[in-house]
Amino acid sequence: MNESALSEPILILGASGMLGSSLTPYLLSRGYPIRGHSMSSDAFDQADLVDEAEAAKFMDRIKPSVIINLVGLTDVDRCEINPDDAYRVNVKSVENIAHWIKHQRPNCHLIHISTDQVYDGWPIHRESDVRIVNCYAFSKYAGELAAKGVAATIVRTNFFGLSPNSKRKSLTDWLFNALNQNNSVPVFEDVFFSPISMSSLCEIIELLALKKPVGVFNVGSREGMSKADFAFAFAKALNISSENMRRIKIDEIDFLKAKRPKSMCMDYTYINQKMGIFMPLLQNEIELVARAYL
Ligand SMILES: NC(=O)c1ccc[n+]([C@@H]2O[C@H](COP(=O)([O-])OP(=O)(O)OC[C@H]3O[C@@H](n4cnc5c(N)ncnc54)[C@H](OP(=O)(O)O)[C@@H]3O)[C@@H](O)[C@H]2O)c1
Repeated sequence: MNESALSEPILILGASGMLGSSLTPYLLSRGYPIRGHSMSSDAFDQADLVDEAEAAKFMDRIKPSVIINLVGLTDVDRCEINPDDAYRVNVKSVENIAHWIKHQRPNCHLIHISTDQVYDGWPIHRESDVRIVNCYAFSKYAGELAAKGVAATIVRTNFFGLSPNSKRKSLTDWLFNALNQNNSVPVFEDVFFSPISMSSLCEIIELLALKKPVGVFNVGSREGMSKADFAFAFAKALNISSENMRRIKIDEIDFLKAKRPKSMCMDYTYINQKMGIFMPLLQNEIELVARAYL
């Protein structure tokens, strides 16, 4: 922890969301002066960041030294049906944040959370391999371009773990509930990803907030797997029967509105070489997360 990080606030935008509900208590427990923001939760300072004047007034009041932006419209199908909503929340809000930093507080560093959904195609992706297949990915990529207008660390990631937020369920929350209710659980054998646990991601975000590297970085786990293998590994780590799980191909279902990428596994050469940060193994992350459910 450095001195400037202690004396001026770190502002977490979207602190009421799923990742924010892990990151905010984590950084508070580490002794940082955190201010949490939400669109609508009374537990935090509230502001609609899509509104440029409201966003600027809010950030003027906090005067942060670092902004960690977790705000997003993460419902992939809603983004496809309402691209304007995707633009407003995933792009316009970032434009407003970057505009405020540029004109009011140029020394403020932005950590902006993006997604592995900007990738597709075989096998694993370096940061330059962008391939967009849906409106959510398009809006998140456009949000990255807006963040690049200032000194920003852009984190492309995907995460899982026990969500502390009862209104926002993670992939492992959904799997845990389905497995315990003996529901039939369809799992995709042809969709590959390399997500990281929320707890490991929080530690890496802390490091990035201290070191403030400028650029785009993949942050996930090593040796990604299919969503089906992930689900079976999670059930095994929980010691729950996986007999209700069914391996299917994503093209067999017809209720998704947006096309999904089938291959989002990430390469970590850049963050490793530039920051000396090593990503954990996905199998170890699954076992770590499973312990939190037991
Ligand atoms: N969830 C995933 O698996 C995943 C995977 C990869 C990347 N990501 C990225 O990681 C980030 C965090 O994801 P998450 O799952 O934690 O998101 P989330 O649970 O959906 O939370 C979104 C946050 O944004 C706030 N928000 C929404 N619209 C707003 C607006 N107009 N003005 C101000 N705040 C607004 C929400 O406030 P309220 O609580 O008041 O609504 C909430 O705090 C996002 O950028 C997402 O794209 C997520």
